[in-house]
Amino acid sequence: MDKIALGVTSSISLYKAADIIRLLQKEGLAVRVIMTEKATNFINPRLFTSLTGERTIVNLFDEGQRPVEHIAMADDICLLLIAPATANIMAKLATGIADDFLSTFYLAVKSPVLIAPAMNQAMFLHPQTQANIKKLKDAGVEFVEPESGYLACGQTGSGRLASPEKIVQTSLRLIRRQPVFKDKLIVVTAGPTREALDPVRFLSNRSSGKMGYELAREAYQRGAEVVLISGPVELEPPAGVKIEKVISSEEMRQAVLRYYDRANAVIMTAAVSDFKFSQTGSEKIEKETLPPDLKLERTPDILEELGRLKTGQLLVGFAAETAQMKARAGQKMKKKKLDLMVANDVSRQDIGFGCDENEVYLFWPDGRERFIQKTAKRKVSQEILTEIGAMLNARK
Ligand SMILES: Cc1cc2nc3c(=O)[nH]c(=O)nc-3n(C[C@H](O)[C@H](O)[C@H](O)COP(=O)(O)O)c2cc1C
Repeated sequence: MDKIALGVTSSISLYKAADIIRLLQKEGLAVRVIMTEKATNFINPRLFTSLTGERTIVNLFDEGQRPVEHIAMADDICLLLIAPATANIMAKLATGIADDFLSTFYLAVKSPVLIAPAMNQAMFLHPQTQANIKKLKDAGVEFVEPESGYLACGQTGSGRLASPEKIVQTSLRLIRRQPVFKDKLIVVTAGPTREALDPVRFLSNRSSGKMGYELAREAYQRGAEVVLISGPVELEPPAGVKIEKVISSEEMRQAVLRYYDRANAVIMTAAVSDFKFSQTGSEKIEKETLPPDLKLERTPDILEELGRLKTGQLLVGFAAETAQMKARAGQKMKKKKLDLMVANDVSRQDIGFGCDENEVYLFWPDGRERFIQKTAKRKVSQEILTEIGAMLNARK
């Protein structure tokens, strides 16, 4: 199991380290905590020992560790994450001071280092702190920038520790990034669209957006720049991903076209409404005046348009089918000039729309196909991104 060393320093926000540990563990990572001695004024190291199942390290010369633990442990880890990081620890790391376990360990690690600072705004904006951050960045250290908001000192400003979710997503990106996704822009569409009849009524579908959100998260973790164009859904956007919220199919079309020139791959998981109302009202239409035969018209086919305008982008389509899946998916793939078609059976209750699991077929234009058995959408998204990575690699 991959292991992360988590440095915890004496910022009042260190209670959030417990959430960070839980989220990392949920991602299948082991965590070993190193606290500064000052941090133990806030929390007893036993808390982190209980959470991680491994003894929390505080001192260089503690009994019960390997003879030269700070060097031995450097080989065990895939990432050194310091969250929260005080102004003090950053100053020490920037100048190479090694007077406790954490700062000594920093000099020994060969893995990536990620720092999430947390402090009062004046301390954060102080030219000395900023100079230290710059020095560390120049040395290749990565940062999760602090957020603006209410600070423990009672003031409002920048310096608040980034959210545990964001810290963990950034950590995963550093561990899981792959060269093929570096400097690649991947556009993912997700969710349904809504076609308004009037300000209160609309035509839509049952898409939950889960598959697209998982794909966006996975593409980000592998190192791509990701734009997620999302219809109305009840999901939190993955941290690090740029979100563009849209409502109607026309808004979705325009958003995709805005990024298309720059995109290396477009993954269209959105269930774009095929129809919209021919006539719409800018005010609520009274039921007495509602025509009994509401007329519908086709919306533009975004994927087909992208296929027509294609200049080297890798185009991935999703087909939600209820019957004759293979034949229909094959036809769509040809018509829309797709590089990969992912088809799933939305008539089943246990997979697809709204579910956490999916079972899909992948079809390629050269006739190759692959079946991904029912599994978590996260796992499906990993398999799809692996295929996309291989396709991007083949294009080099
Ligand atoms: C209540 C309290 C809260 C503190 N919060 C922070 C903080 O959020 N960020 C920071 O840089 N220092 C903070 N400090 C100051 C650090 O604890 C102090 O600079 C310490 O020497 C840092 O030691 P360490 O980096 O070894 O943990 C706080 C101090 C106290 C007493």
